[in-house]
Amino acid sequence: EKGGYDHFMMKEIYEQPKAIRDTLGSRIKEETVDLTNEIGLNKEEINEIERIHFVACGTAYHAGLVGKYVIEDLARIPVECDVASEYRYRNPIITAKTLVIVVSQSGETADTLAALREAKRQGARVLAITNVVGSSVAREADDVMITWAGPEIAVASTKAYTSQLIAIYLLGAYFAQEKELKTAAEITTIISELKQLPEKVEEVLQQEETVKAFATSIAKHNNLFFLGRGLDNAVGLEGSLKLKELSYIHSEAYAAGELKHGTLALIEEGIPVIALATQPAIYDKMVSNVEEVKARGAHVLGLTTVGNNELEKTVDEVIYIPAVSDLLSPVITVIPLQLLAYYACLARGYDVDKPRNLAKSVTVE
Ligand code: M6R
Repeated sequence: EKGGYDHFMMKEIYEQPKAIRDTLGSRIKEETVDLTNEIGLNKEEINEIERIHFVACGTAYHAGLVGKYVIEDLARIPVECDVASEYRYRNPIITAKTLVIVVSQSGETADTLAALREAKRQGARVLAITNVVGSSVAREADDVMITWAGPEIAVASTKAYTSQLIAIYLLGAYFAQEKELKTAAEITTIISELKQLPEKVEEVLQQEETVKAFATSIAKHNNLFFLGRGLDNAVGLEGSLKLKELSYIHSEAYAAGELKHGTLALIEEGIPVIALATQPAIYDKMVSNVEEVKARGAHVLGLTTVGNNELEKTVDEVIYIPAVSDLLSPVITVIPLQLLAYYACLARGYDVDKPRNLAKSVTVE
């Protein structure tokens, strides 16, 4: 049942190229993104969307954080992203021109479902991105995009996250296309980049041994940091959650620019830092943040894109990620972080598929 792997999590990590392909599926043609069968909104209604709220929990919330960058960039609609258990209690501004996107692997998370109901009650249109056909979230939302990741058994979510990202890219590209914000040529480029993702994921999976070695080296630590800016910070948050839930090592993901506003005080000799630097616009800034932590004795694993040779001069280890367009990088960057959590868990002797205190589906509020 584990397909030759020791744990469901590893099987699911390796299923990601297929999950991405299946989620793209028939939604892309050569030159257009076609979501007309799934999304009832017509061109005019898409043009009228005034704001989008992503609402989700845990890993699905982290997909929403990436979604904020993606949708704002592609579709030029203001996006907010909330944890479902917070959303309902903060009196969010919801109108008939608000699109609420709930993201949930299981489609049964109590807080997400309650937020969905509240958003509908206040007149929003609700779109669900979920992995389970016929789940509560799928049944109650106005529109549904299924992520075709297949059953996810391990408590730690992996392939659900990457396929949620794919659904979000498709949605962003579809809105951009319907709003005529991108030329046909630009849409074709996005489509061809999306199609290349499965092989890029396969490439980065080949770095397993480097990640494993670093994971072993962090196993004796009780604290570490993930640093990154922009989309890299969003991915860092997911890497940090994965590491916490599996290895029970405390970690924090920080927007690297915020470091000197307090957190830098915690950087001391030997503390592991995972520095994510995939975004060209802020690459130099990240390099100087890494220098700041190195100067205080941090042990740094850097993740950057092939061709960025500056980082390796500063960090202790480096993992090169195949080049993809900036917006798509989270799909690739998260893979080594999933492997890191997996191997740190094994190195500490814990149960990968069943972390303590956690359930696969959280059906209580
Ligand atoms: O089924 P859902 O996507 O709604 O679940 C949300 C979270 O409970 C889930 O992502 C959780 O954070 C995972 N264990 C993280 O690996």
